[in-house]
Amino acid sequence: MDILVVGGGGREHAIIRKLKESPKCGKIYCTPGNGGILSDAKCFDVKADDITGVVELSKSLKVDLVFVAPDNPLVAGMVDALEKEGIAAFGPRANAAELEGSKVFSKWLMKKYNIPTADYKVFDNPADALTHIRKQGRYPTVIKADGLALGKGVLLCDSYSEAKAAVKSIMEDRVFGAAGNRVVVEEFLTGPEVSVLAFTDGKTIFPMVSAKDHKRVFDGDMGPNTGGMGAISPNPHYDDETAYYCMNKIFLPTVEAMNKEGRPFKGCLFFGLMLTPDGPKVIEYNCRFGDPETQVVLPRLKTDLLEIICAIREERLSELNIEWSQDACACVVMASGGYPGEYKKGVEITGLNLNGQLDDVVIFHAGTSKSNGKYYTNGGRVLGITAKGESLDAALELAYGAVARISFKDAHFRRDIGKTAAQ
Ligand code: AMP
Ligand code: GLY
Repeated sequence: MDILVVGGGGREHAIIRKLKESPKCGKIYCTPGNGGILSDAKCFDVKADDITGVVELSKSLKVDLVFVAPDNPLVAGMVDALEKEGIAAFGPRANAAELEGSKVFSKWLMKKYNIPTADYKVFDNPADALTHIRKQGRYPTVIKADGLALGKGVLLCDSYSEAKAAVKSIMEDRVFGAAGNRVVVEEFLTGPEVSVLAFTDGKTIFPMVSAKDHKRVFDGDMGPNTGGMGAISPNPHYDDETAYYCMNKIFLPTVEAMNKEGRPFKGCLFFGLMLTPDGPKVIEYNCRFGDPETQVVLPRLKTDLLEIICAIREERLSELNIEWSQDACACVVMASGGYPGEYKKGVEITGLNLNGQLDDVVIFHAGTSKSNGKYYTNGGRVLGITAKGESLDAALELAYGAVARISFKDAHFRRDIGKTAAQ
């Protein structure tokens, strides 16, 4: 099968690497890809959210499958558009991707079907939102833009004045555009966070091995949120009992709820969970593979990913037995200095071989470019240095050993990936 992967980050690099292990995988393409993906797939310059462009590219390449990885094109209906043209695509249709595309929809669904989540209220004007927050008088309070906001649409507010500023920036200044037409004001929850990605064909759901993201930019979970500074799998907080509870109270009910609403979900469904003192609750749904979680989950997958994708498309996932390696996996992200704020691009990276790799680890490229055989930074998150090991410590030692051999000016990485895992 010739495959086009849509996207251009570390997640897409990890997906491509895994697809290439399949004996069924023929030619593999990526758009837009990046400097490191170039060693694994032919890349094109059609943007990931350019639906018409991707449809045209898929036709001209005559691919057998298009794997749509990022949230924006999924929510905007890229899978629907491809299917309309008779092109096989992996990922949910727009009406199912709404689970990530609208927090108002996902909260409504969870309430209707009794799926555990934080209490909330929806507002479509700033005055009502602020009256509610003031009346409630409970801080921190959580304010979320309804739509997609590059992962930045959630604001945790410690006081009324912070809440007022948050509502103003989302609903009046429109910093996230139309995503801020409505806000969800939500109860603040506490507890360890767990990411569980799951394969589902709308009938069967197979959770993957658990993972833990590290969202804050600095050690000790300090500083602003990022797209993720590293990840580990498994997540030590996610034990068998928790997994059993989540399967019965969250995963299966979500799949059933989506079917009842006439929005069957086929693809990778991502559950962002918080293990609160009152039990696991859903913090968010994503309609896709997570980043950087994918970089630590897919390396542990022993079953053929392409086989799984075909089974999902043909709704025969229940026939498969999906196997995972017992090894732990760790990914340390090397980012540009200044990220998640302003940062420079085009800084030369040293220490990588000609393929942008190193011998004892896997380097998933997130934001790089390649020119004349050299690699340069081209984004906030630059590289995901990933290693497997018999234990989490062994995986981390390998990954950090490799990080020490790679450099670029002002490179920044967290030194405590996996260390705070047990807290
Ligand atoms: P989200 O984009 O919805 O995953 O939210 C981003 C981050 O905000 C989450 O990973 C949590 O750390 C935090 N968060 C979101 N909702 C809540 C909540 N109700 N209570 C506490 N923290 C939250
Ligand atoms: N790591 C969280 C996400 O992919 O949204």
